[in-house]
Amino acid sequence: MALLHSRRLLAAPRLAAAASRASSWWSHVEMGPPDPIMGVTEAFKRDTNSKKMNLGVGAYRDDNGKPYVLSCVRKAEAMIASKKMDKEYLPIGGLADFTRAAAELSLGENSEAFKSGRYVTVQGISGTGSLRIGANFLQRFFKGSRDVYLPKPSWANHTSIFRDAGMQPQAYRYYDPKTCSLDFSGAMDDISKIPEKSIILLHACAHNPTGVDPRQEQWKELAATVKKRNLLVYFDMAYQGFASGDINRDAWAVRYFIEQGINIVLSQSFAKNMGLYGERAGAFTVICSDADEAKRVESQLKILIRPMYSNPPANGARIASLILNTPELRKEWLTEVKSMADRIISMRTQLVSNLKKEGSSRNWQHITDQIGMFCFTGLKPEQVERLTKEFSVYMTKDGRISVAGVTSGNVGYLAHAIHQVTK
Ligand SMILES: Cc1ncc(COP(=O)(O)O)c(C=O)c1O
Repeated sequence: MALLHSRRLLAAPRLAAAASRASSWWSHVEMGPPDPIMGVTEAFKRDTNSKKMNLGVGAYRDDNGKPYVLSCVRKAEAMIASKKMDKEYLPIGGLADFTRAAAELSLGENSEAFKSGRYVTVQGISGTGSLRIGANFLQRFFKGSRDVYLPKPSWANHTSIFRDAGMQPQAYRYYDPKTCSLDFSGAMDDISKIPEKSIILLHACAHNPTGVDPRQEQWKELAATVKKRNLLVYFDMAYQGFASGDINRDAWAVRYFIEQGINIVLSQSFAKNMGLYGERAGAFTVICSDADEAKRVESQLKILIRPMYSNPPANGARIASLILNTPELRKEWLTEVKSMADRIISMRTQLVSNLKKEGSSRNWQHITDQIGMFCFTGLKPEQVERLTKEFSVYMTKDGRISVAGVTSGNVGYLAHAIHQVTK
């Protein structure tokens, strides 16, 4: 009797759990796949090899492989702390000093569009959030097609962002795996066939994931074609200054398109170029035909943002705004962003020279031709698998490495490992 009683007691919670599973609102929810990049990091953390390298994560590391906080950011933080600022809400469109400075940075201080005020910039939750504002704005107000043409490949999140906002992601040829470089004729061919009044997304610089950017003459041809096709151009600029080390050079395409009379929309991120990753500072800009139109667009952007998150976070925007608007801090930032870009460029060169030292007879020129944080190595999935299994070098299956994860201490080991799996 006592035994029966205790068995019943044991069975009761199990039955209750099964019953609640059956009646749960969420029993139909299936397990989703893990984020591919987070998966790489998890596997890296479990690895006990002291030589292991994580080349999956898209965040800058210093030459000791450590996260890097810019000195101008530390100074701006100290200024903010000393001011004992309040924690009140920002306006819906964000911190005005920040949005004005973000627009000036991207468009250029001498830009006609900037000076005449025929633009609107709202603060977004870093690059991703700014893209989402843009995607929702297009969904609500763009009178052309729902189709958004993305380069193939593109940052994987672009597809999700536009799809979740009710747009239809499409693709145009961009990267040629045979040459590990731009498939310019393929891109032009596809773009010239995009139906009029569609949307095309262009990476302003440091294309993610390939590191392959058009040259200035190619940008000119691209601009002429999108103008002829009457396409709405959406620039995503997540790496201004971080690609070449020069903020003006990296913004060249954005400014050139506007000068050609192409009224673009633009998302910006301060995650990489100021190292403000978790602070989530970004901006969304619409170039309009005049200041009055810009005011109307601004009013609608606010209406769109209000039910999403009411207003953006203050701290990152305060830091970025202080850096951009305080001459000494701005000067220091320009030096620091250049030093990050230069370190990455030098790691590319060192990787290639170490591959040669290893005796590799392959052509690795694409490693130095590509620009920005990422390099599309051209390694095949089986080679990537061997790199991970045999050498504890972690990267995404497509062969993309974050060059920011390479240091003067481990570049030799990486070259050795790559040579072993490619010879
Ligand atoms: C092309 C591109 N756009 C946008 C982003 C947005 O990043 P975040 O939301 O961290 O600013 C990234 C980050 O990796 C990116 O590579």
